[in-house]
Amino acid sequence: MTKRTLSFFILHSSFFILLAQTISITTDHTQLVLQVNSQKRLCQTYLGERLSEQTDLKQLSMPQAGLSSSCIRGLEAYPVMGTEDYYEPTFEIRHADGNPTSVLKYQQHTQQGDLTSISLRDEVYPIEVTLYYKTFPQEDVIQQWAEIKHEEKGKVFLGRYASSMLYFEAPSYYLTEFASDWAKEMQMLSQELQFGKKVVDSRLGTRANLMAQPFFEVGIGSPISENEGTVLMGTLGWTGNFRFTFEVDNQHVLRVVSGINHDASSYLLPKGETFRTADFFFTLAKGTGEGSRRFQRWMMNHQLHKAKDDRMTLLNNWENTYFDFNEEKLVALFGEAKDLGVDLFLLDDGWFGNKYPRKDDHAGLGDWQVTKDKLPQGIPYLVRKAKENGVAFGIWIEPEMVNPKSELAEKHPDWLIQLPSRETYYFRNQMVLDLCNPKVQDFVFGIVDGLMQENPEIRFMKWDCNSPITNIYSPYLKENQGNIYVDYVRGLYKVLDRVQAKYPDLYMMMCSGGGGRSDVTGLRYFTEFWCSDNTDPIERLFIQWGYSQFMPAKAMCAHVTEWNRRASIKFRVDVAFQGKLGFDIGLKGLSDDDRQYCREAIKEYKRLKDIVWSPNLYRLVSPYEGQHCVVQRVDDAKSKSVVFAYDIHPRYGERLLNTRLQGLDAAANYRVKEICLMPGKQSWLPCNDKVYTGDYLMKVGIKVTSTNDLVSHIIEVTKE
Ligand code: DGJ
Repeated sequence: MTKRTLSFFILHSSFFILLAQTISITTDHTQLVLQVNSQKRLCQTYLGERLSEQTDLKQLSMPQAGLSSSCIRGLEAYPVMGTEDYYEPTFEIRHADGNPTSVLKYQQHTQQGDLTSISLRDEVYPIEVTLYYKTFPQEDVIQQWAEIKHEEKGKVFLGRYASSMLYFEAPSYYLTEFASDWAKEMQMLSQELQFGKKVVDSRLGTRANLMAQPFFEVGIGSPISENEGTVLMGTLGWTGNFRFTFEVDNQHVLRVVSGINHDASSYLLPKGETFRTADFFFTLAKGTGEGSRRFQRWMMNHQLHKAKDDRMTLLNNWENTYFDFNEEKLVALFGEAKDLGVDLFLLDDGWFGNKYPRKDDHAGLGDWQVTKDKLPQGIPYLVRKAKENGVAFGIWIEPEMVNPKSELAEKHPDWLIQLPSRETYYFRNQMVLDLCNPKVQDFVFGIVDGLMQENPEIRFMKWDCNSPITNIYSPYLKENQGNIYVDYVRGLYKVLDRVQAKYPDLYMMMCSGGGGRSDVTGLRYFTEFWCSDNTDPIERLFIQWGYSQFMPAKAMCAHVTEWNRRASIKFRVDVAFQGKLGFDIGLKGLSDDDRQYCREAIKEYKRLKDIVWSPNLYRLVSPYEGQHCVVQRVDDAKSKSVVFAYDIHPRYGERLLNTRLQGLDAAANYRVKEICLMPGKQSWLPCNDKVYTGDYLMKVGIKVTSTNDLVSHIIEVTKE
């Protein structure tokens, strides 16, 4: 068989194990080509739009890694530290004899359905690295990870273990990162990448929102835009430390390395055990609009827990009562939840602890018994009372954490992550439990299990995680402290696996001091996540704009609160309407009209939620570019669309442009109707209740913005 037919053969095979020259990984629109060079090194020779003629693959030029100085960079698929590639590597190992390198050579590969695996081996040391590429053809998403194992007798340390290396060659590169802080999650910051490195990472162990969220976008050859130009959008599925490195090398090639952050994490890998890296997911799209629709569809089809199931609107008591509640107050709130028309009441922080009752955030964390003098009849009474009011019951937990002032900390000091010989630093007066320890994993699982055993009718849990890992030392791991950050996350996943297996119907919100946890692997376990403690609707327009780059609306918890009372209740509800709607507000403080508005909006939300949650998102006007924000969702059949329009603080005399809709059927007629109006108010939008062709709506557009402060409109567009 000639090389040419061999390559062709592999591209069209479903399951073969062959020594091959060319490995092609394709989705409907994207193609990644890897080729093995004469030194058996695996190199990337193409990544871009899918080639029409697969026979053209033979034209791709092969970099000869290490053969001449001009090819030093090699474009190796999984470059190793310490060899002839001097740039940021994906992999670093210290062998038992102290040798700090490996040369990974191609052994074989398999392609079965959507999964490609390629095994690489060091011919001198017994170490094997297998690279995996899983494709999601219709969503045009590619998943990458690696598995590493060795058969050496002594101690082998992995210094780096990235999931992916991707190369690009273009005149220019533009990065958007998602910078983050408490109450400032997903702030989109853009810059041109110049020579050298830019690192976006988190080293907080648990939460990420003091640093950055695990997402990025890179404009390849042109600045990032919504509908034009090639953009790489990537995210790491890892509920812990991540690192993305963007390096423009001496030949202006961009290298994108994605993986678990290796800082302070030299991992001791025992002989025969497999180290699986985190999963990296990417799409190469035409503009971020297309990329977001792909990612949202992929989340809905393949990743998000219970993605096809409904979600519950809710009333949360956190900002209404904080820690100051009792049975009477809560039962009254169940009545308010019923009056509002939401599905669930969510009891937040402050229901537990007896020796050290949880009156504020200084004590009680870890003691998951109900505070007897606050809630004498326990959780079963609350579940029953909620049910009598026609609402389901949900409860807050923060199971990975402990206050030093708790019975748990007194009983099990060895379960706490803390440095043995140094003063302890407390973040929010608390510490992190050592989830590397299987006994701690049992304890954490037991918190959920105990609540569910006692109250099988609990429908929902909010799983909070407020502290980063401070005082980094695991009493369980002893001298293997380099493993702590990785083993912590694995311990967490073990617990969550057990929770999911035993309670598959439990809805869970991933929360972390606001939006400190929002990664796509966490969302395999959680049905939704808390985007931010910042619920000021103006800030939320930015935060939700950021998350919508990757996340489906169904997973993005958006609550109506008292933040920014200058904004009307309508404006606040209309912003939260874009996500998974909830309320965290005292209804008694609202006027009759405001309460009525909330009730009606919830009804409209329930009627339209399938469109609001559709992955077909069109971001039409960016809040980053002015004083307005307009986004649109369309159902798959293009028969119904919802447009959300917001005026923030428009300038005097500002010229208002039409907003051109997208994603409609050009040939169809659509009726445009403003919904969710305040009681007794009429729409003043000129387009209200008019019929237009899809073509007109998309080419000419309609006026949905104004020069008024803090005004919002929700507009339903229905095919006639
Ligand atoms: C942080 C969360 O983000 C809040 O919503 C709330 O649950 C508090 N923790 C409770 O301590």
